[in-house]
Amino acid sequence: MSAPVLYPLEADDPLAAPLAAALGGESGRLERRRFPDGETYLRYDTNPIGKRVVLLVGLDRPDAKVLPVIFAAATARALGAEEVGLVAPYLPYMRQDRQFSPGEAVTSRHFAELISSAMDWLVTVDPHLHRYKRLAELYTVPTKTLHAAPTIAKWIAAEIPQPVLIGPDSESAQWVSSVAAIAGAPSEVLAKIRYGDHKVEVSLPDLEAWWDHTPVIVDDIVSTAGTMIQTVGHLKTLGLVAPVCIAVHGLFANSAYEDLMAAGAARVVSTNCVAHKSNKIDITAMLAGGIEACFAGEFDREN
Ligand code: R5P
Repeated sequence: MSAPVLYPLEADDPLAAPLAAALGGESGRLERRRFPDGETYLRYDTNPIGKRVVLLVGLDRPDAKVLPVIFAAATARALGAEEVGLVAPYLPYMRQDRQFSPGEAVTSRHFAELISSAMDWLVTVDPHLHRYKRLAELYTVPTKTLHAAPTIAKWIAAEIPQPVLIGPDSESAQWVSSVAAIAGAPSEVLAKIRYGDHKVEVSLPDLEAWWDHTPVIVDDIVSTAGTMIQTVGHLKTLGLVAPVCIAVHGLFANSAYEDLMAAGAARVVSTNCVAHKSNKIDITAMLAGGIEACFAGEFDREN
């Protein structure tokens, strides 16, 4: 088997150097710029011929990055790469998983078709599986799904005295309960109704029993932060101490991070699946393990 070469789509991707080091492989250079008319120019400065190419891309705000990553995969193949895998710690387009009104695009499916047509495999962390139960329901390419729960639980155990984990909605139950079980902490899951992109309502929970605990709200994605802000407000009303908010994928649209701090969060923390100033929980070692598993052909069982 040839040595792997990790190519970050963005030269300043903070995960690139630690991940290449953890893999014990080469860090490759991919030159990428825009022509004056906005089209993409790509060049492999590190030759991928006969190599196992690993493309790393942070796919938050995906639209400007998707075409370049598809071109990068096609170019690697044209230059003679042995295989091309995609490492996308955040997998976008998972939430539009059905037609909510007639005529809508089910973009999760079209995005999956596009990625599956270009890559030999895909590694990601906690994709938003709600109505889809497995990535194999929409991705035809072999996938490796990693879970941040153990890493988050370790961080909580080291940083938060007497935590009680709070999931803002039923979808969060899956990861909140795993984090709680690993951290050996109690947990509560609330109910949420979403009325639109920016309007959500979270149930007022009965949390009196936890007045002497530190609430830790955990969700897979923070986008507008509307969900977390509502939850923080409820905890405040109930007289609990200011909560710590943890996101696996901190997308933080516009002023979401500042809004959440202003709403009364004691701390807002995220994993480095999406690069952000709130990154405190490092998933590099887990990602490297996932990539090694792909090299060994150990994919999600469903594929
Ligand atoms: C949705 O079900 C997710 O798990 C998150 O709760 C949601 O994406 C958070 O979005 P926002 O931050 O915009 O409330």
